[in-house]
Amino acid sequence: MITQQNVYLIGPMGSGKSAVGRQLARLLHLPFHDSDADIEDRTGVNIAFIFEQEGEAGFRAREKESIERLTLLDGVVLATGGGAVLDPQNRRLLAERGAVVYLKTSLDQQIARTRHARHRPLLNDVDPERALAGLMEHRAGLYAEIADITVSTDHRRVQLVAEEIHQELLRRRGA
Ligand code: S3P
Repeated sequence: MITQQNVYLIGPMGSGKSAVGRQLARLLHLPFHDSDADIEDRTGVNIAFIFEQEGEAGFRAREKESIERLTLLDGVVLATGGGAVLDPQNRRLLAERGAVVYLKTSLDQQIARTRHARHRPLLNDVDPERALAGLMEHRAGLYAEIADITVSTDHRRVQLVAEEIHQELLRRRGA
């Protein structure tokens, strides 16, 4: 039985889902999971290699399997990939099985935070600003659709964002 103790972080690349998720998991004394890391653990290769070999469709199928399995866990903090909300079943499972927290982040901050990262295939060999803007245009509504809590991460430290989410979760649970 799912007891709704789960917290699922959604948001674009560079929104800080993994960093905030790890910190939030500490505050909540819950284990932390990350769907991208889960896919890499199970396949033994990195996300970029999966995109190369199987294309985005192959990666999305693996992501869907990962979300389906990780949302069966009870009492976890889960960081999802920026595109996890594209799939309707992913959205439904995240919305049904836990509290969904949307880390809202401006384009400028996304660009700044992803600038040096080489592991994001959707940002390779393209103008990152245009790519991130295009993704956000398509996905903003999907993030908002399933968000229970929306928190801005712009110019804010990981610890502060995690604490704000923690307080909001406690408030909603009537603690
Ligand atoms: C993606 C975001 C990435 C990763 C993959 C695709 C996306 O995760 O899942 O590269 O479609 O936005 P992060 O949001 O953790 O960078």
